Formats: sequence, structure tokens, C-alpha cells
Amino acid sequence: GDGVFRYYSDGEWKASASGKSVPIINPTTRSTHFKVQACTQEEVNKIIESAKAAQKLWAKTPLWKRAELLHRAAAILKEHKAPIAECLVKEIAKPAKDAVTEVVRSGDLISYCAEEGVRILGEGKFLVSDSFPGNERTKYCLTSKIPLGVVLAIPPFNYPVNLAVSKIAPALIAGNSIVLKPPTQGAVAALHMVHCFHLAGFPRGLISCVTGKGSEIGDFLTMHPGISCISFTGGDTGVAISKKAGMIPLQMELGGKDACIILEDADVDLAAANVVKGGFSYSGQRCTAVKVVLVMESVADKLVEKVNAKVQKLTVGAPEDDCDITPVVTESSANFIEGLVMDAKQKGATFCQEYRREGNLIWPLLLDHVQPDMRIAWEEPFGPVLPVIRINSVEEGIHHCNASNFGLQGCVFTRDINKAILISDAMETGTVQINSAPARGPDHFPFQGLKDSGIGSQGITNSISMMTKIKTTVINLP
Ligand code: G3H
Repeated sequence: GDGVFRYYSDGEWKASASGKSVPIINPTTRSTHFKVQACTQEEVNKIIESAKAAQKLWAKTPLWKRAELLHRAAAILKEHKAPIAECLVKEIAKPAKDAVTEVVRSGDLISYCAEEGVRILGEGKFLVSDSFPGNERTKYCLTSKIPLGVVLAIPPFNYPVNLAVSKIAPALIAGNSIVLKPPTQGAVAALHMVHCFHLAGFPRGLISCVTGKGSEIGDFLTMHPGISCISFTGGDTGVAISKKAGMIPLQMELGGKDACIILEDADVDLAAANVVKGGFSYSGQRCTAVKVVLVMESVADKLVEKVNAKVQKLTVGAPEDDCDITPVVTESSANFIEGLVMDAKQKGATFCQEYRREGNLIWPLLLDHVQPDMRIAWEEPFGPVLPVIRINSVEEGIHHCNASNFGLQGCVFTRDINKAILISDAMETGTVQINSAPARGPDHFPFQGLKDSGIGSQGITNSISMMTKIKTTVINLP
């Protein structure tokens, strides 16, 4: 055709009446790699209308059948892992192996969700009235979990497939329909993933995927009266959405400034390995990346030396070559990262490596002796640049962690489990990892951010529950 990928509405692949498209720039070549449709508000209206109609029937479809379709979609997705991963490589410069892992992890997530769904949605509660003062046993109360309606899923560029299915699968098993708005970078991978659901044979209109410019359809989608729930992962846009959205449940996972606190008694080799993995995998473009290292002065030299030795070994280059460090997603992102680096330089941070950038490719950089007046002490680079702050007490580390407006995850390295637990309790974050880098998975673990890092809790079980509402029927005995 015209080389513009179609959007998915009412079970069909369509070209937008706008006649316009949105280019997807390959971060590595910095030229247009794909184009997607720039959908109109009218097309969004149609999608939401068919999503509402399809949901009514879907809610009456037996739970085991919903699960069966999800299992089928999971299998088809895994069969198509190669072409989908290829899109991730071209659209978001994810290293080739990680791109495949993302797709496989997504298939597993869908299957787990189907299994979890049939169990937790397959049971309700039975209550009797005479446990509350003044009541006889004259009322029986039956509870069940009912769907919300149309769920709007907005995943971010860094996991266009996995963070889409982490919203789609819970919504569907719970009896909702889905409108997916993928990120521009990653939209084609998302369309391929949606095609797997199409092949699995879900009813028309139950799942749709709308592409386009945020300025044209963003607010229109999030403020649309036909939407019953929004599940969003991303950055500041989430704060804006929360302010504008109507009286509907929101699931938000936004930024993070995950701290890695390293105590004097830590296994420094283990800590160094996790600092590198946590700080530099996918070039630091993970909400759960280690974004600040808070290390006790007495072990700081040793840690920095070990981290530097590992940083030196990181391969830098093209995602096709499966390099560890690949170009960051956009030029503006690279410019932002560079701004943080230059600010730190001006204010006297120690550069453990030379700062180097070619296009969107930024070489991994550890900044030692970072001070609280530097922007990088607080801001999220979303790139392969990691600040180290040397601390003289555990309290200092906890204080820095808690002074952040973010509160996603954090980690602590120590051999003393009692200290670890006390620090975990003191850290104002949704999760604390003891002796490992922050991470969302395994995908059935609860995943949540405090403060500006989010609303609600994710993870398979929590997402299913969040996308349902309790319905009760009370039998009044004569
Ligand atoms: O970027 C945010 C993701 O939820 C992080 O997931 O910990 O599996 O990389 P991850």
C-alpha cells in the first residue's frame, strides 16, 4: 500500500480519513523507519462506540472461554516473537536479545493472567447480616466482581508490547474491552502484537488500537465519556491525565529516581554488578533503573572502581548487534541527558569516563562525587548516565531517597538482614529490593509507586482486581 501501517478498529485494519500519518524515527539511523495513521477524533468516537457494544457481549462470555482466547493469543504472540522483536529494535533501539525477551515475557504474562483470572474472578463472597449489631440473620449478601467497561491502555515507549499486554490481558479476562493507544515509537510493534489478538479470534471491536498525534487525540481519548478506566505508564503526561480524567479508576505508573543504598558491610561485587545492570540495561531507559547510587564513603572507592571496570566492558553501538548501550529513543531525550551531564560538569562532579555522544548514542557514564545542588541528583535522565553520591550515614541515604518527589523502587545492599528490613521500612517507595537491583518483575508481583511515581498498584492480580468493581446482591429473607 502506501507504506503507512493501518490502525485497528472494529476488527478491521483501516486507513485514517485524515490522510495524514505520523513518522516513526529509528533512533539509530535517525531517519523515518515506519509511518502510522494519524487518526481523527471521529475515528476515536467510532472505536469507543464499538468497544462499548463489544464489551456488553464479552462480559456475558464464560470466563473459561475468555481465558481460552487469551491463552491462544499468548501462543500466537510467542510464535511471532521474531518480527515483533525486529520492530522493537528499529523503533526503540532495544538490544535484539532484550527485544525477544520482551515478547516472550508478554506471552507468559497473558497466560498467567488468564489462569489467575479464572481463579480470582471465579469466586466471590457470601456474607450474613447477623454479624453486625442489631441484625438478625435475615439478609444474605452475595458478592461478585464485574467489569468496568472500556479500559483505555496507554503504554510507554520502553515496553510497547509488554506494558501494553500488562493492561490488555487483565482488562480482557475481567470482561472489559480495550482501546489501546500505543506510544509513537513502538506503535508498529504494538500493532503487530494486536494482530496476534486478532488472529486468536477475539470478537470485533473488543480490542482496538488507535494511533496518532497526542495533540490531536490525546486529551480527547483520556477525557472521553465512553472510557471507564485508564491504565497509563509513562512520564509527566500521567500527571496531566490524572488532573483531567473524569470520575474513573486510574492506574498510573510514572517516573522514578530509584536509589541504591550500599552499606559498609555489603558484598561490593554483588552491589557493583547490580549497579551496572540496574543503571545501564536498556541504556537506563527503565522507570525501575537505578538512578542514584548512595554509597557509604568507606566502601565508595572500592565500589566505584568495580563499577568502572564493568562499565568499561559494556558494548556500545547498534541494537541489531545486541550492544549493551544503544541510542536513546529520541534526539530530544539525548539533549535532555546531555543537559544533566553538563550541569553536573559545571558544578564539579567527577567524570569516571569521558562524556561521549554521537547522534542519539550516549556512551555509559558514571558521575562520582555528585552533590545535592546538581540536577542529576534529583532528575531522571532516562539514559546511560548514573550519579554516585557518597554518604556518611545510612540516615543520609534514606533522607536523600525520601526527599525525592518520586517513590517507585529502591534497593539496599547489606549482609545484615535486620538493617535491610529497617531501611526498607524507612524508604518511601512502593518496593524495596534487598541485595538486588530494582525491577518490576516477576510480573505477578505487586508493582506500585508512591508520591509522583503513581496511582494504584499493578502486577497481574492487582491489575485484574483494579479493572473490576464489586457488585453485591442481597437476598432478604422473609
Ligand atoms: O519502565 C518501567 C517498567 O515498568 C520497568 O520494568 O523493571 O521489568 O524493566 P522492568
